[in-house]
Formats: sequence, structure tokens, C-alpha cells
Amino acid sequence: MTPLLQLTKVSKHFGGVRALHEVDLSVDAGEVVALVGDNGAGKSTLVKIVSGVESPDTGEIRVRGEAARLESPRAAAEAGIRTVFQDLSLCDNLDAVQNLFLGQERYGPVWSGRRVRRHVMEEQAQRVLESLSVKLRALNTPVVALSGGQRQGIAIGRALISDPAVVLLDEPTAALGVSQRGEVLDLIQRLREQGRGVLVISHDMKDVRQVADRVVVLRLGAKVAEFRRGGYTPADLVSAMTGAHEPTDGEGGDL
Ligand SMILES: Nc1ncnc2c1ncn2[C@@H]1O[C@H](COP(=O)(O)OP(=O)(O)OP(=O)(O)O)[C@@H](O)[C@H]1O
Ligand SMILES: [Mg+2]
Repeated sequence: MTPLLQLTKVSKHFGGVRALHEVDLSVDAGEVVALVGDNGAGKSTLVKIVSGVESPDTGEIRVRGEAARLESPRAAAEAGIRTVFQDLSLCDNLDAVQNLFLGQERYGPVWSGRRVRRHVMEEQAQRVLESLSVKLRALNTPVVALSGGQRQGIAIGRALISDPAVVLLDEPTAALGVSQRGEVLDLIQRLREQGRGVLVISHDMKDVRQVADRVVVLRLGAKVAEFRRGGYTPADLVSAMTGAHEPTDGEGGDL
């Protein structure tokens, strides 16, 4: 199977700082890959490169097997890659539909004055939220009134409006309570069931164990370990992240 997303030897420096060094990474259709690592390991840099916010110094990125130049967020979106950033970038005073279509509003034809087609957007909003099992009492209340889990649902729903092959999530469960965290892990499960490739950054090792088919560990910009679901212990992850000692089971360390 050709991976949906494939990075080969991707490197990035900021001045003298080595943010990423020859990182290989792939995400298959219907696969959730978790990206973990200590502060400064290079996780956000990798996500920014794949979302077209930063460009790599060297290395290659392929989307569905084809070399991709992700020069801007728009180029990444056109290549089928959408990102949910940690701050969610929701507009509190706008409602669910307005947030879902922010920057991608549906307009009527020129002869009608290109008015925003609210009913078209509402229908699609309903479909997208349903596909994620996000339940809202109303589509027209400002999202400031929603729970953290629902807000994450809207942010993920916004990424899905353009039906991307790959979804990147930066710390989707940070700052959420236990039940809302469960909701978000369910959202990720939905994305997997839809056959998308999911790359998720997380600091929460419980979440990682629960949701990830594969875990990629970065340390100081380099990929230091990769584990498959069930093939590692929490201690394996921690020692790979900190470099305390190399993983002992056969699953780890396949660089
Ligand atoms: N725009 C930038 N300018 C200079 N240095 C940067 C820039 N962005 C990232 N870095 C540096 O690159 C390295 C990797 O940073 P990055 O934000 O990717 O780490 P991270 O794994 O996301 O960390 P965290 O868990 O704290 O979010 C760090 O040393 C960081 O200081
Ligand atoms: Mg980060």
C-alpha cells in the first residue's frame, strides 16, 4: 500500500538550532500515527512543514506517492492535508456553521450577488458533524457556549469540509477533562474509520496508547524510535523520549 503521507529525510534548521534532522515518517490510510517527544523535540516543526507553514531545508514529502511541494497552507490543503492547530482558531462569537466554513464559505452565483448560502452550509455542516458523532443542540449558537470536546469537534469538522486525506492534530486533548478527552479520542477514531490518515501530536501517554496504531518518537529533532500498537510499555516511550536508555523490546528502535 502506498502511504498517504511520506516524509523522507526531512531536515530543518532555525539559525543554529537543529529542529529536525533527516526524519522519515509515513502515515497510511486508516492509520493513526502519534508523534511524541519532549519539549523542543521538533513535533510542531514537523507539523508546520506538513501543513505548509514552514518549508523544509532538505528532504522529500510525498502525498499518495506523488512528490508534493507544500509551499503554503493552501498548497497543503489542495494536496489533501488539513491541520487542526492547538489553539483551534475558533471565533467565539460565531456559530458552528460560520466556524466550520470560516474562509471556505459557500457563495451563490454572481447574478444573485454572491450571497453566502447559509442553507447549503447548514446541510453540509450537519453531515460533517454527524460523521464525527458531534452532537450540538443548535447550529446557530455562538461556539463560546460549547464544551471543550464540542469545540474540538468543530475544529476537526472544519478540517473535514474539504474532505482531506490526511488530518494533522496538534495536542487535541490538552487542557480537556477526562470525559471530553474521551470524546476527542472518539473523534480520532471516526477519522480512522473514514479511511483518513491521522497524525496526532500528544503529550498524554495514556491517550497515545489508546488511540495510536503507531508511535513515532522524536528527540532533539531526530526520530529515535517507532513502536506499533501493543508493542511497547509506557516506560519504553519515556526512555525513548528522554534518551535514558534504549528500548529493550524488539519492536522499538527500528530507525
Ligand atoms: N521559528 C523558530 N525560530 C527559531 N527556533 C525555532 C523556531 N521554531 C522552533 N524552533 C526551535 O526548534 C526546536 C524544535 O521546536 P518545536 O516547536 O518543533 O518542538 P516541539 O516538539 O513542538 O516542542 P513542544 O513540546 O514544546 O511544543 C526547538 O529548539 C525550538 O526552540
Ligand atoms: Mg510544539
